[in-house]
Amino acid sequence: MKSEKDGIMFIAVCEVAVCEVMALKNPFRFGMVVKGEDFCDRHKEMKEISQAIKSGMSVSVISPRRYGKTSMIVNLLDTLEDYTKVYMDLMTVTSLNDFLERYSSSIFNSLGGIRKFLNDMDKLMKVHANVELNLGNFKFNFEASPNSTRDIEEVIGLPEKFKEKFVIVMDEFQEILNVTNIDLIAILRKKFQFFNNVSFIFSGSKRTMMKEIFSKPQKPFYRFSQIYELKPLERNEVVEFILKKFAKTGLKMERKMAERIYEISCGHAYYVQALCYHLWFMAREAGNIEESQLDEALKKVLLSEKSAFESVWDELNPNQKKVLKVLSYGKSPYSLKMSAGSVKRALETLEKSDIVEKRERYEIIDPILRIWLREEI
Ligand SMILES: Nc1ncnc2c1ncn2[C@@H]1O[C@H](COP(=O)(O)OP(=O)(O)OP(=O)(O)O)[C@@H](O)[C@H]1O
Ligand SMILES: [Mg+2]
Repeated sequence: MKSEKDGIMFIAVCEVAVCEVMALKNPFRFGMVVKGEDFCDRHKEMKEISQAIKSGMSVSVISPRRYGKTSMIVNLLDTLEDYTKVYMDLMTVTSLNDFLERYSSSIFNSLGGIRKFLNDMDKLMKVHANVELNLGNFKFNFEASPNSTRDIEEVIGLPEKFKEKFVIVMDEFQEILNVTNIDLIAILRKKFQFFNNVSFIFSGSKRTMMKEIFSKPQKPFYRFSQIYELKPLERNEVVEFILKKFAKTGLKMERKMAERIYEISCGHAYYVQALCYHLWFMAREAGNIEESQLDEALKKVLLSEKSAFESVWDELNPNQKKVLKVLSYGKSPYSLKMSAGSVKRALETLEKSDIVEKRERYEIIDPILRIWLREEI
């Protein structure tokens, strides 16, 4: 230290640094789309999907809930240049009108807002009938009734009226099946197949429904898109991601601890973040990271999922419960004192409900549900 003043300055700087560490925000996030450094890379997946898009193809991204579909797609869109990007979430779509409003308003928004096009509206959508599409401040007189198929096609054909190249994301696409008064899927397919300036990314977590839409030869969307089954995050990527985030906030984690987080979560994106989130608070308070904190973090995650798991459990009949319980121990349900036919039926229903899937053998999809069944039921 050159002088007393320098010494005081040095202490002040250190205090600021300590305060910053204390005030650090938890670096793990869940329950929202993650981007940038919160996004554990899905380099391979994004490359493959982006190649398909650039070749003018469409892709259907299917995975169990909270694997990271939306986050991956949003990050992928950021990497695509020269496209007009349209993202629409169909999660709560309940009617034809609702769908057409979301569809047209998100297309207009991606092009700079509907106001720009008010004067050209007649050219863009030549509709004849007479009720209204509510596009923000603008009400578009339009009858979206099942009888006005031509008008519906006119709205669906909107992207064709522009020179831009579009990527249109329809997230939770299976919800379109909620529109029951018209065969909307058939109309979409009829129009979409002639678009030559649009690639679609359809995404959905209700896998049975998504596969029903895209993989059944008798369905309109059969072979319309490449099916991309999004897998859990990769082990090494996750381990590095966790270590780096803890290190950045001044907490050194042993590699084997990060590996254990991967094993508990099976690379399920949401659970990786949720476990680390709880663990981080405990570690920060203790000033170090210990095995017992991870056990506590797991308890917290189990607690926060409890009511969701209970409602899954309550929906099952006795045979399905027995089969699920046996699967949670990694055993074959055919070892149960139950007829093979009953086991098969139970497995089929559990699979249809996206609770189990057939890998080499039937397994419970959600790794935390599996633990909950073993420990709490
Ligand atoms: N690549 C990633 N890296 C780190 N965390 C991720 C990643 N992808 C997703 N997550 C975590 O998982 C959570 C769920 O992600 P996201 O909403 O993208 O999944 P989803 O498959 O679209 O879920 P849903 O089926 O509910 O629509 C995010 O809030 C985030 O915590
Ligand atoms: Mg999603």
